[in-house]
Amino acid sequence: MAPAVAPSPVPPPAAELTAAINALRRERNAVILAHYYQEPEIQDIADVIGDSLELARRAASTDAEVIVFCGVHFMAETAKILNPDRIVLLPDADAGCSLADDCPADDFAAFRARHPDHQVVSYINCTAAVKAQSDLICTSSNAVDLVRQLPEDRPILFAPDRNLGRWVERQSGRSLTLWPGRCVVHETFSEEALLRLMARHPDAEVIAHPECVEPLLDHADFIGSTSRLLSHAETSPASCFIVLTEPGILHQMERRLPQKSFLPVPGTDGCSCNACPYMRLNTLEKLWSCLATLEPRIELDETIRQQALRPIERMLAMSR
Ligand code: 13P
Ligand code: SF4
Repeated sequence: MAPAVAPSPVPPPAAELTAAINALRRERNAVILAHYYQEPEIQDIADVIGDSLELARRAASTDAEVIVFCGVHFMAETAKILNPDRIVLLPDADAGCSLADDCPADDFAAFRARHPDHQVVSYINCTAAVKAQSDLICTSSNAVDLVRQLPEDRPILFAPDRNLGRWVERQSGRSLTLWPGRCVVHETFSEEALLRLMARHPDAEVIAHPECVEPLLDHADFIGSTSRLLSHAETSPASCFIVLTEPGILHQMERRLPQKSFLPVPGTDGCSCNACPYMRLNTLEKLWSCLATLEPRIELDETIRQQALRPIERMLAMSR
């Protein structure tokens, strides 16, 4: 006889969803971590909103029994690497990342083998199996600082984001051997649309995430991780910003700075591909459902987890 499959629970009506999530969060002793690219209603219900570094730090310090990671798979996986004994949930198991997909572990091992004298720095947007092959993990907010701290007597291999890697090279003055990965979102912003926005809003500052391609970064007044873009908007005297990153961040910008205006940049051909197709898979209903069923969970091979933990801990220790 075929094994019984548990029916998926039916979420409460939309008007009761927030209260139901709050009740389950208390019952499960769960913490909800959310990235800035999540839907506004998920950001509003989260215990913590942050960039990859802040969320990794919170995952490392939480005493909650259940961690719900409203973000993408590599972020939830990092939380699990840091918390092997806790339940880590990702509301939609298909919430991946093109950068992680662009860097299969076996191909990466072959690449490393061709550069045996290199120290390996991997952007946190990669799988646990790639982290396990790395000497140091970085995020977009600490990459330049960490690369500057590395010993100068060994060359550096940087993976998987070639755009972030090129920007780190320029900022740090260190030469990097780059893996050719890219983010499908940050590679599709339209330069033509950006130039039109700049012409229409000549006083606006252009602020950009370093995953953008170099010709777009060349137009930017400020470049940084999602958190840095937010804090720059808070401290800058400018009142209008053209924002070259996933538009989910606009929710926090508009909430914290209602007197300022923020303009997203469309993708090429005016498509809405500036929204991350992976991040946006998570919904409030799926958040409720994962708390109700404690699925889908992140599970990891213990050897890989232990190998991936070392470069993450090194990053946390080296980050100021
Ligand atoms: P941040 O660490 O800047 O939030 O970036 C994460 C990410 O996936 C950007 O595309
Ligand atoms: Fe990955 Fe790009 Fe989505 Fe960030 S925006 S999660 S780098 S696909």
